[in-house]
Amino acid sequence: MLALGLALLAPAPALAQATPDTATLEEGMRLYQGLNSCELCHLFNGSGFQHNMLFGPVPAGGPSLVKSTMTRDEMIEMVSCGKLTAGSIMPKYRGDAWTRERPCWGKLAADIPADEMPLHGERLLSGRQIEAVVDYVRAAYQGTGMGRAWCMRYFPTSPKACDTLIEGAAAPAAPAATPGTVVRPGAPAPFQLPAVPK
Ligand code: HEC
Repeated sequence: MLALGLALLAPAPALAQATPDTATLEEGMRLYQGLNSCELCHLFNGSGFQHNMLFGPVPAGGPSLVKSTMTRDEMIEMVSCGKLTAGSIMPKYRGDAWTRERPCWGKLAADIPADEMPLHGERLLSGRQIEAVVDYVRAAYQGTGMGRAWCMRYFPTSPKACDTLIEGAAAPAAPAATPGTVVRPGAPAPFQLPAVPK
């Protein structure tokens, strides 16, 4: 009886994490947009983009969150603390990151070169907000790519945008185009090129 009582008192984080509710995911989506600037580097559909800036060796943009193999905890660490790779530009979103209160990647600020300290994001986030944005990334992008339903929530005032945006961009498992078939985004239907005479 006593053992049961203790078990009930014990926190059950795994259970709490298993299925984030819709309100949390919606909050995470709003945090991903706009001032928190995730979408600037990872794009609205999480597909990411990276290109080399003309004036420096650091690539702009961020990697694909669709293809990310990180666990939830690793993503929380990344968003809280910022980049793992030297020279990269992923910001840190916790005000107390890299301090004794919130060590990062097992380290404190003093353990890394000062010029490798990640910059702060546009707007700092609380621990709970970071969990919400990570849960959104995992639900809407990771593994599957952004589906039409999430796209239409993302662009509620212009859901038509999703007609063209979602095709091609993040479609998870589009069948490979058969040779000779030309597919243009937004085109009504693929058309067949005449077969090359043998
Ligand atoms: C200025 C550009 C920039 C912004 C803004 C940005 N990121 Fe990133 N992000 C990156 C880069 C670059 C990396 C790669 C970091 C590394 O490998 O060290 C990255 C990595 C990540 C990863 C790990 C992906 C993986 O599997 O390697 C996650 C998750 C992530 N970002 C989420 C977010 C979220 C959520 C936000 C907003 C709260 C955000 N990012 C804002 C550029 C950015």
